[in-house]
Amino acid sequence: MPAIDSYFITTPIYYVNDVPHLGHAYTTIACDALARFMRLDGKKVLFLTGTDEHGQKVEKSAQAAGQSPADFTNQVSQRFRDLTAKFEISNDDFIRTTEQRHIEAAQAIWTALVKSGDIYLGSYSGWYSVRDEAFFSEVELTDGGVGERLAPSGAPVEWVEEPSYFFRLSRWQKPLIKFYEENANFILPQSRRNEVVSFVSGGLQDLSVSRTSFKWGVPVPENEDHIMYVWLDALTNYLTATGYPDLKSNVFKTFWPTALHVVGKDILRFHAVYWPAFLMSAGIVPPSRVFAHGWWTVEGEKMSKSIQNVVEPFNLVDVFGLDQVRYFLLREVPFGNDGDFSKTALIHRINSDLSNDLGNLVQRVLSMIHRNCDAEIPVPASFSDDDQILLSQVDDLLQQVRDSMKQQACHDALEKIWAVIRTSNIYVDHEAPWALKKTDPIRMNTVLYTLAESLRNIAILIQPFMPNAGGKMLNQLGVPAGFRTFSSLGANKRILAGQAIPKPVGVFPRFVADEFSDG
Ligand code: MSP
Repeated sequence: MPAIDSYFITTPIYYVNDVPHLGHAYTTIACDALARFMRLDGKKVLFLTGTDEHGQKVEKSAQAAGQSPADFTNQVSQRFRDLTAKFEISNDDFIRTTEQRHIEAAQAIWTALVKSGDIYLGSYSGWYSVRDEAFFSEVELTDGGVGERLAPSGAPVEWVEEPSYFFRLSRWQKPLIKFYEENANFILPQSRRNEVVSFVSGGLQDLSVSRTSFKWGVPVPENEDHIMYVWLDALTNYLTATGYPDLKSNVFKTFWPTALHVVGKDILRFHAVYWPAFLMSAGIVPPSRVFAHGWWTVEGEKMSKSIQNVVEPFNLVDVFGLDQVRYFLLREVPFGNDGDFSKTALIHRINSDLSNDLGNLVQRVLSMIHRNCDAEIPVPASFSDDDQILLSQVDDLLQQVRDSMKQQACHDALEKIWAVIRTSNIYVDHEAPWALKKTDPIRMNTVLYTLAESLRNIAILIQPFMPNAGGKMLNQLGVPAGFRTFSSLGANKRILAGQAIPKPVGVFPRFVADEFSDG
């Protein structure tokens, strides 16, 4: 049994047919915020990301680039690794499906499915979309004109006829429904769960799980003419990283089945239907949750290479700053919903939430302490009712944010932190510590102490979302490195009076919208 304090979180593994864009960065940032949060909350975390390197789509992209699939995948996979570095992602492992450890795991799960009697040889004839790496039935297709048939994603399909192994998915319909019933939060958000349940209730057909018409994949163990269907190969990565097929490995015992798979809504079916069915068939308990997030459009349009509106994440960070981009993506849209990206919206968030609400508060409080309290956190006298109202809101914050993060509601967590920032701004205006310097310096000390304590809580809690800003704020408050986790929060662990603080510097610069309006 995994320990209750272990937390395994995964991003989808990214196809290496193309370089990373904003959509990829989004999933990874959200997982990073969740992973960092849980670590600061004392959990043992395994955070996994990586690249999905097999299949027809990648093989075709390599051909188009005039490279061998191996050279091509090495190159593009590296771009995804670079993305994790650029966004300061705290992943514990980066998996590539071309690694030997993964090929062994994928073949082992195949063998387990064979043993359970769920694999049989047949022949597939039907529609296949290379872009989705998925099979479709006639009724799911639409007419794309000039004889072209399109999958629901808009990708063209081709007719495929070849020998194929099948997985008896049909047999798992009832066990899946039972599993969803017994695990009401296995699929979140709830609306997505309903879609999956109704899809499975409609009946499941056996799934073609091998291909013979190309070679770039994991060979089927007992018949090397076949390679494994790329989704069966890819999904297994989550097990590979735990040490599977070694069920006695420490990582497996610690982290399986605590896995939380964060995925885009387009790949929910693979994770919430096929994956638990494969696992149940292989005698392995399914993961604890699949959370499906929404998609970003750009200025109201679908992000697409053909209309050249793909948002390039590296450049975005260079122009606007890492914490700013991370904050925007996590705060702008409730996690699970679709969102629209625009530079205007990004700049608005940076200026209003970061520069005005938080940046000004930090700057005002720290400069007053620096100037009026000999650059030391002042010693408070007795707390007034107003002080206590703010402090009790501050003390409740961790539990509130924790409740949100347990539901993957990053936007909600940030909203709760910002409620305390807003209260602190109202408090500082109302208490006017600058005016107390001459009239009542003892009261001024108490007010500034109360504000410093609020800032300390805010800084500790924003670290998962904005690691740099959180760290900078804590440096400026003089909080030592060993006192920055959530175990340092709470009414009996206040900020240390007498602690020296350095000369304050601004945390969030403002942006002038006009300078960035041309995209
Ligand atoms: N390789 C598969 C996943 C296998 S996991 C066992 C795959 N890769 S992908 O690179 O095409 O997509 C990865 C993720 O990026 C998906 O979760 C997808 O939803 C997400 N996004 C792609 N475009 C997106 C947006 N425009 N907005 C938000 N997320 C988007 O699918």
